[in-house]
Amino acid sequence: MKGIILAGGKGTRLYPNTICVSKQLLPIYDKPLIYYSLSVLLLAGIKDILIISTPYDTPNYRKLLGDGSRIGINIEYCVQETPRGLADAFILGEEFIDGGSVCLVLGDNVFYGQHLSALLIKAMNRVSTDGGAAVFGYLVKNPREFGVVEFDKNNKAISIEEKPVHPRSNYAVPGLYFYDNSVVEVAKNVKPSERGEIEITSVNNHYLEHGTLNVMVMGRGMSWLDTGSPKGMHKASSFVKNVQELQGFYISCIEEIAWRRNFITLEQMRSLGLELASTDYGKYIISLAEENKG
Ligand code: DAU
Repeated sequence: MKGIILAGGKGTRLYPNTICVSKQLLPIYDKPLIYYSLSVLLLAGIKDILIISTPYDTPNYRKLLGDGSRIGINIEYCVQETPRGLADAFILGEEFIDGGSVCLVLGDNVFYGQHLSALLIKAMNRVSTDGGAAVFGYLVKNPREFGVVEFDKNNKAISIEEKPVHPRSNYAVPGLYFYDNSVVEVAKNVKPSERGEIEITSVNNHYLEHGTLNVMVMGRGMSWLDTGSPKGMHKASSFVKNVQELQGFYISCIEEIAWRRNFITLEQMRSLGLELASTDYGKYIISLAEENKG
Protein backbone atom coordinates (compact mmCIF):
# COMPACT_ATOMS: atom_id res chain seq x y z
CA MET A 1 0.00 0.00 0.00
CA LYS A 2 1.13 3.55 -0.78
CA GLY A 3 0.60 6.67 1.31
CA ILE A 4 -0.36 10.26 0.55
CA ILE A 5 0.08 13.22 2.88
CA LEU A 6 -2.02 16.22 1.99
CA ALA A 7 -0.13 19.25 3.24
CA GLY A 8 -1.48 22.16 1.24
CA GLY A 9 -4.30 24.58 1.90
CA LYS A 10 -4.15 28.23 2.91
CA GLY A 11 -4.12 27.80 6.69
CA THR A 12 -6.24 30.93 7.05
CA ARG A 13 -7.51 29.91 10.49
CA LEU A 14 -3.95 30.32 11.76
CA TYR A 15 -3.16 33.71 10.20
CA PRO A 16 -0.81 35.56 10.66
CA ASN A 17 1.25 32.45 11.54
CA THR A 18 0.65 30.90 8.15
CA ILE A 19 0.83 33.90 5.83
CA CYS A 20 4.28 32.86 4.63
CA VAL A 21 4.80 29.43 6.25
CA SER A 22 2.82 26.29 5.49
CA LYS A 23 0.71 25.20 8.46
CA GLN A 24 2.11 21.67 8.40
CA LEU A 25 5.66 23.05 8.80
CA LEU A 26 4.82 24.87 12.02
CA PRO A 27 6.16 23.23 15.18
CA ILE A 28 4.12 21.04 17.45
CA TYR A 29 6.46 21.37 20.41
CA ASP A 30 9.79 20.04 19.09
CA LYS A 31 9.10 18.90 15.53
CA PRO A 32 7.21 20.08 12.44
CA LEU A 33 3.53 19.20 12.33
CA ILE A 34 3.99 17.00 9.24
CA TYR A 35 6.22 14.60 11.25
CA TYR A 36 3.10 13.38 13.05
CA SER A 37 1.20 12.34 9.92
CA LEU A 38 4.37 10.97 8.35
CA SER A 39 4.82 8.84 11.47
CA VAL A 40 1.37 7.33 11.00
CA LEU A 41 2.36 6.09 7.54
CA LEU A 42 5.70 4.79 8.82
CA LEU A 43 3.96 2.96 11.68
CA ALA A 44 1.70 1.30 9.12
CA GLY A 45 4.86 0.11 7.35
CA ILE A 46 4.19 2.30 4.30
CA LYS A 47 7.43 3.26 2.52
CA ASP A 48 6.17 4.88 -0.70
CA ILE A 49 4.83 8.31 0.11
CA LEU A 50 3.55 11.26 -1.92
CA ILE A 51 3.48 14.69 -0.30
CA ILE A 52 1.04 17.13 -1.90
CA SER A 53 1.34 20.82 -1.15
CA THR A 54 1.09 24.29 -2.65
CA PRO A 55 3.40 25.62 -5.38
CA TYR A 56 5.00 27.90 -2.79
CA ASP A 57 5.45 25.35 0.02
CA THR A 58 6.42 22.16 -1.84
CA PRO A 59 10.13 23.18 -2.10
CA ASN A 60 10.22 23.57 1.69
CA TYR A 61 8.90 20.05 2.24
CA ARG A 62 11.54 18.80 -0.16
CA LYS A 63 14.16 20.69 1.87
CA LEU A 64 12.88 19.14 5.10
CA LEU A 65 12.43 15.52 4.00
CA GLY A 66 14.29 15.13 0.69
CA ASP A 67 13.64 11.90 -1.17
CA GLY A 68 13.17 10.06 2.12
CA SER A 69 16.23 7.87 1.66
CA ARG A 70 17.79 9.15 4.89
CA ILE A 71 15.07 7.27 6.78
CA GLY A 72 14.92 4.39 4.29
CA ILE A 73 11.76 5.38 2.46
CA ASN A 74 10.76 6.89 -0.89
CA ILE A 75 9.13 10.34 -0.88
CA GLU A 76 7.75 12.01 -3.99
CA TYR A 77 6.18 15.45 -4.27
CA CYS A 78 3.24 16.87 -6.14
CA VAL A 79 1.92 20.43 -6.42
CA GLN A 80 -1.73 21.25 -5.90
CA GLU A 81 -2.25 24.58 -7.67
CA THR A 82 -5.41 25.46 -5.71
CA PRO A 83 -7.05 23.80 -2.69
CA ARG A 84 -9.85 22.06 -4.62
CA GLY A 85 -10.71 19.65 -1.82
CA LEU A 86 -9.32 16.60 -0.08
CA ALA A 87 -10.50 14.14 -2.75
CA ASP A 88 -8.21 15.95 -5.21
CA ALA A 89 -5.35 14.02 -3.59
CA PHE A 90 -6.39 10.89 -5.50
CA ILE A 91 -6.75 12.69 -8.83
CA LEU A 92 -3.36 14.38 -8.45
CA GLY A 93 -1.88 11.14 -7.12
CA GLU A 94 -3.29 8.83 -9.82
CA GLU A 95 0.05 8.03 -11.43
CA PHE A 96 1.72 7.58 -8.03
CA ILE A 97 -1.08 5.27 -6.77
CA ASP A 98 -0.64 3.27 -9.97
CA GLY A 99 -3.70 1.05 -9.54
CA GLY A 100 -2.93 -0.06 -5.99
CA SER A 101 -4.54 0.68 -2.64
CA VAL A 102 -3.74 3.88 -0.77
CA CYS A 103 -3.79 5.51 2.64
CA LEU A 104 -4.46 9.26 2.83
CA VAL A 105 -3.49 11.17 5.94
CA LEU A 106 -4.04 14.88 6.42
CA GLY A 107 -0.78 16.62 7.21
CA ASP A 108 -2.36 18.58 10.05
CA ASN A 109 -3.71 15.58 11.98
CA VAL A 110 -1.93 14.25 15.08
CA PHE A 111 -2.60 10.74 16.41
CA TYR A 112 -1.10 9.09 19.46
CA GLY A 113 -1.95 5.93 21.35
CA GLN A 114 -0.71 2.53 22.37
CA HIS A 115 -2.73 0.53 19.86
CA LEU A 116 -2.27 2.85 16.90
CA SER A 117 0.00 0.48 14.94
CA ALA A 118 -2.39 -2.45 15.45
CA LEU A 119 -5.36 -0.36 14.33
CA LEU A 120 -3.51 0.80 11.22
CA ILE A 121 -2.53 -2.75 10.28
CA LYS A 122 -6.14 -3.89 10.78
CA ALA A 123 -7.46 -1.15 8.49
CA MET A 124 -4.78 -1.90 5.88
CA ASN A 125 -5.46 -5.62 5.93
CA ARG A 126 -9.22 -5.11 5.55
CA VAL A 127 -8.78 -2.95 2.48
CA SER A 128 -6.02 -5.12 0.99
CA THR A 129 -7.99 -8.37 1.37
CA ASP A 130 -11.66 -7.33 1.00
CA GLY A 131 -11.32 -4.06 -0.97
CA GLY A 132 -13.52 -1.10 -0.11
CA ALA A 133 -12.51 1.59 2.34
CA ALA A 134 -11.66 1.90 6.02
CA VAL A 135 -12.03 5.08 8.06
CA PHE A 136 -12.39 5.84 11.75
CA GLY A 137 -14.81 7.36 14.20
CA TYR A 138 -13.63 9.40 17.18
CA LEU A 139 -15.85 10.85 19.92
CA VAL A 140 -15.69 14.66 20.03
CA LYS A 141 -17.57 17.48 21.71
CA ASN A 142 -17.68 19.69 18.59
CA PRO A 143 -18.86 17.40 15.74
CA ARG A 144 -20.07 20.34 13.61
CA GLU A 145 -16.43 21.04 12.68
CA PHE A 146 -15.82 17.65 11.08
CA GLY A 147 -17.11 14.85 8.91
CA VAL A 148 -19.63 13.07 11.19
CA VAL A 149 -20.49 9.38 11.12
CA GLU A 150 -23.70 7.92 12.52
CA PHE A 151 -23.94 4.28 13.68
CA ASP A 152 -26.93 1.98 14.08
CA LYS A 153 -27.55 -0.29 17.10
CA ASN A 154 -25.08 -2.85 15.74
CA ASN A 155 -22.32 -0.25 15.37
CA LYS A 156 -22.70 -0.26 11.61
CA ALA A 157 -22.15 3.12 9.93
CA ILE A 158 -25.36 4.41 8.37
CA SER A 159 -24.58 8.02 7.43
CA ILE A 160 -21.65 10.38 6.96
CA GLU A 161 -22.12 14.11 6.66
CA GLU A 162 -19.59 16.92 6.21
CA LYS A 163 -19.78 19.60 8.90
CA PRO A 164 -23.50 19.11 9.58
CA VAL A 165 -25.46 21.88 11.27
CA HIS A 166 -27.40 19.22 13.17
CA PRO A 167 -24.93 16.35 13.75
CA ARG A 168 -26.52 12.91 14.08
CA SER A 169 -23.76 11.73 16.42
CA ASN A 170 -20.65 12.91 18.23
CA TYR A 171 -18.36 10.69 16.17
CA ALA A 172 -16.02 12.72 13.95
CA VAL A 173 -14.13 11.10 11.08
CA PRO A 174 -10.41 11.88 11.56
CA GLY A 175 -8.16 12.70 8.62
CA LEU A 176 -6.90 9.17 8.06
CA TYR A 177 -8.42 7.09 5.28
CA PHE A 178 -7.66 3.74 3.58
CA TYR A 179 -9.01 2.94 0.10
CA ASP A 180 -8.84 0.25 -2.54
CA ASN A 181 -7.80 1.05 -6.12
CA SER A 182 -11.22 2.32 -7.17
CA VAL A 183 -10.76 5.54 -5.18
CA VAL A 184 -9.25 7.44 -8.13
CA GLU A 185 -12.35 6.89 -10.27
CA VAL A 186 -14.63 7.62 -7.32
CA ALA A 187 -12.81 10.92 -6.69
CA LYS A 188 -13.02 11.90 -10.37
CA ASN A 189 -16.81 11.58 -10.21
CA VAL A 190 -17.29 13.63 -7.05
CA LYS A 191 -19.32 16.81 -7.63
CA PRO A 192 -18.05 19.93 -5.81
CA SER A 193 -19.94 20.74 -2.62
CA GLU A 194 -21.62 24.05 -1.78
CA ARG A 195 -18.26 25.38 -0.59
CA GLY A 196 -16.82 24.42 -3.99
CA GLU A 197 -14.61 21.52 -2.81
CA ILE A 198 -14.50 17.88 -3.83
CA GLU A 199 -15.11 16.48 -0.38
CA ILE A 200 -13.57 13.35 1.12
CA THR A 201 -16.97 12.82 2.73
CA SER A 202 -18.49 12.37 -0.74
CA VAL A 203 -15.88 9.68 -1.45
CA ASN A 204 -16.74 7.97 1.84
CA ASN A 205 -20.44 8.20 1.06
CA HIS A 206 -19.85 6.43 -2.24
CA TYR A 207 -18.29 3.47 -0.38
CA LEU A 208 -21.02 3.60 2.27
CA GLU A 209 -23.75 3.42 -0.38
CA HIS A 210 -22.00 0.41 -1.93
CA GLY A 211 -21.76 -1.34 1.44
CA THR A 212 -17.96 -1.34 1.37
CA LEU A 213 -17.11 1.26 4.01
CA ASN A 214 -15.61 -0.02 7.25
CA VAL A 215 -15.75 2.47 10.10
CA MET A 216 -13.64 1.53 13.12
CA VAL A 217 -14.00 3.36 16.38
CA MET A 218 -10.86 4.82 17.90
CA GLY A 219 -11.37 4.24 21.61
CA ARG A 220 -10.33 6.24 24.64
CA GLY A 221 -6.79 4.87 24.53
CA MET A 222 -6.22 6.90 21.40
CA SER A 223 -5.63 10.63 21.19
CA TRP A 224 -6.54 12.58 18.08
CA LEU A 225 -5.41 16.14 18.50
CA ASP A 226 -6.89 19.18 16.86
CA THR A 227 -4.50 21.66 15.22
CA GLY A 228 -7.18 23.79 13.59
CA SER A 229 -6.62 26.90 15.75
CA PRO A 230 -3.77 28.54 17.70
CA LYS A 231 -5.34 27.11 20.89
CA GLY A 232 -5.42 23.62 19.35
CA MET A 233 -1.78 23.94 18.26
CA HIS A 234 -0.80 25.06 21.75
CA LYS A 235 -2.70 22.21 23.40
CA ALA A 236 -1.16 19.67 21.03
CA SER A 237 2.32 21.04 21.81
CA SER A 238 1.67 20.79 25.56
CA PHE A 239 0.37 17.25 25.12
CA VAL A 240 3.51 16.17 23.24
CA LYS A 241 5.81 17.86 25.75
CA ASN A 242 4.03 16.33 28.75
CA VAL A 243 3.85 12.79 27.36
CA GLN A 244 7.49 12.86 26.24
CA GLU A 245 8.69 14.14 29.62
CA LEU A 246 6.51 11.75 31.60
CA GLN A 247 7.11 8.59 29.60
CA GLY A 248 10.59 9.23 28.26
CA PHE A 249 9.48 8.06 24.80
CA TYR A 250 9.21 10.58 21.98
CA ILE A 251 6.03 10.97 19.97
CA SER A 252 6.50 10.78 16.20
CA CYS A 253 10.29 10.67 16.10
CA ILE A 254 10.55 9.60 12.45
CA GLU A 255 14.13 8.35 12.82
CA GLU A 256 13.10 6.04 15.70
CA ILE A 257 10.08 4.65 13.84
CA ALA A 258 12.17 4.08 10.70
CA TRP A 259 14.64 2.09 12.81
CA ARG A 260 11.92 0.11 14.65
CA ARG A 261 10.34 -0.75 11.28
CA ASN A 262 13.75 -1.89 9.97
CA PHE A 263 13.85 0.80 7.28
CA ILE A 264 17.27 1.88 8.60
CA THR A 265 19.91 0.29 10.83
CA LEU A 266 20.74 1.30 14.38
CA GLU A 267 23.98 2.86 13.10
CA GLN A 268 22.13 4.91 10.48
CA MET A 269 19.72 6.13 13.14
CA ARG A 270 22.66 7.10 15.35
CA SER A 271 24.24 9.15 12.54
CA LEU A 272 20.96 11.00 12.03
CA GLY A 273 20.86 11.70 15.76
CA LEU A 274 24.42 13.04 15.73
CA GLU A 275 23.43 15.63 13.10
CA LEU A 276 20.90 16.98 15.61
CA ALA A 277 23.08 16.45 18.67
CA SER A 278 22.61 19.99 19.97
CA THR A 279 18.88 19.37 20.54
CA ASP A 280 16.99 17.15 22.99
CA TYR A 281 15.43 15.49 19.93
CA GLY A 282 18.88 14.52 18.62
CA LYS A 283 20.07 13.46 22.07
CA TYR A 284 17.03 11.18 22.37
CA ILE A 285 17.93 9.44 19.10
CA ILE A 286 21.56 9.04 20.15
CA SER A 287 20.63 7.59 23.54
CA LEU A 288 18.19 5.19 21.87
CA ALA A 289 21.03 3.99 19.65
CA GLU A 290 23.39 3.62 22.64
CA GLU A 291 20.82 1.68 24.70
CA ASN A 292 20.06 -0.76 21.90
CA LYS A 293 23.51 -1.52 20.49
CA GLY A 294 24.36 -5.20 20.61
O1 DAU B 1 -9.36 16.72 10.30
C1 DAU B 1 -10.43 15.88 9.94
C2 DAU B 1 -11.41 16.58 9.04
O2 DAU B 1 -10.67 17.03 7.88
C3 DAU B 1 -12.55 15.65 8.61
O3 DAU B 1 -13.36 15.31 9.72
C4 DAU B 1 -13.42 16.31 7.54
O4 DAU B 1 -14.38 15.39 7.08
C5 DAU B 1 -12.56 16.77 6.37
O5 DAU B 1 -13.31 17.47 5.40
C6 DAU B 1 -11.46 17.68 6.88
O6 DAU B 1 -12.06 18.86 7.40
P1 DAU B 1 -11.23 20.22 7.56
O7 DAU B 1 -12.18 21.34 7.74
O8 DAU B 1 -10.19 20.03 8.62
O9 DAU B 1 -10.54 20.32 6.17
P2 DAU B 1 -9.58 21.46 5.69
O10 DAU B 1 -10.23 22.16 4.54
O11 DAU B 1 -9.10 22.29 6.83
O12 DAU B 1 -8.34 20.63 5.13
C7 DAU B 1 -7.61 19.72 5.92
C8 DAU B 1 -6.13 19.85 5.59
O13 DAU B 1 -5.88 19.53 4.23
C9 DAU B 1 -5.60 21.26 5.80
O14 DAU B 1 -4.38 21.19 6.53
C10 DAU B 1 -5.33 21.81 4.45
C11 DAU B 1 -5.20 20.60 3.58
N1 DAU B 1 -5.81 20.78 2.26
C12 DAU B 1 -7.15 21.08 2.20
C13 DAU B 1 -7.78 21.22 1.00
C14 DAU B 1 -9.24 21.51 0.93
C15 DAU B 1 -5.08 20.63 1.12
O15 DAU B 1 -3.86 20.34 1.19
N2 DAU B 1 -5.69 20.76 -0.07
C16 DAU B 1 -7.02 21.04 -0.20
O16 DAU B 1 -7.52 21.14 -1.34
